[in-house]
Amino acid sequence: MRFADKTVIVTGGAAGIGRGCVNVFHAEGARVGIIDRDAEAAGQLADELNATRAQSTFVAVCDVAEIDDLKAAVDGLAAKLGQLDCLINNAGAHPPATALEDFSAEQMQHLFQVNFLSTYVGCQAALPHLRKTKGTIVNMASMTAVLGQHLSTAYSATKGAQVSFTKALAIEAADDGIRVNAVLPSNVDTPLMHAWANTLDDPATALKRVAELQVLKRMASPEEIGRVCLFLATADSSFVTGQAIEADGGAALDY
Ligand SMILES: NC(=O)c1ccc[n+]([C@@H]2O[C@H](COP(=O)([O-])OP(=O)(O)OC[C@H]3O[C@@H](n4cnc5c(N)ncnc54)[C@H](O)[C@@H]3O)[C@@H](O)[C@H]2O)c1
Repeated sequence: MRFADKTVIVTGGAAGIGRGCVNVFHAEGARVGIIDRDAEAAGQLADELNATRAQSTFVAVCDVAEIDDLKAAVDGLAAKLGQLDCLINNAGAHPPATALEDFSAEQMQHLFQVNFLSTYVGCQAALPHLRKTKGTIVNMASMTAVLGQHLSTAYSATKGAQVSFTKALAIEAADDGIRVNAVLPSNVDTPLMHAWANTLDDPATALKRVAELQVLKRMASPEEIGRVCLFLATADSSFVTGQAIEADGGAALDY
């Protein structure tokens, strides 16, 4: 029980990697706050987890791109949880493969709001709570931040922004005993991954090709990424801050 008597808020916690984080932290004894725009999926997950441990999981329904709603969700959940030990800024979107000139400035602005501004504002809202616990922040970036991705300039840029922000905030937050790190998954078997594949001509072949990009020849499970976040949220990583942890199954190797 590595997170007993502790709490975590996970944005985008109703599905995919966020859900993996929620499951891993909950299994380690955490009380969990889920922020998600999908009320039904978040509610169902909370019901399941509260059935195994009463009053262990709370939900705030909001779109993380809406700044005021996100702030209110973080504050509201921190109050319900009683304290905040970790914030995982995970909610994000990956648009279909699109050439730079076909992705408008307005589309980029909105994607930046969903993928990056939510991280920025989430941290602003969480810091007052995390100062009290000397807690941690984990930002869910992507290997695209360092490797790029074909026809994904906008997405890659939002993920790169998360990484630079993580490093700069780690310096600022260190005085308060707060550690800030980013996780950079390569390919994870989530609904987002399948939605992306379904935008292509041959989804099955695309998913197979994606699995083979890793030297481990498979995608990660959401729980595997959740366990990396757990490591970054516990004293096991007490000397690690400002890092971009490449959880990529070796995808960047053997070029
Ligand atoms: N799946 C991958 O291979 C992969 C790889 C690298 C990075 N990532 C990153 O991991 C994060 C999660 O990805 P995933 O694959 O689990 O996605 P997903 O689409 O499978 O799940 C995302 C969850 O976040 C919620 N969500 C999405 N946009 C939201 C918004 N604006 N407001 C509130 N909730 C919102 C969804 O309802 C859903 O519950 C994203 O930031 C993504 O960029 C994913």
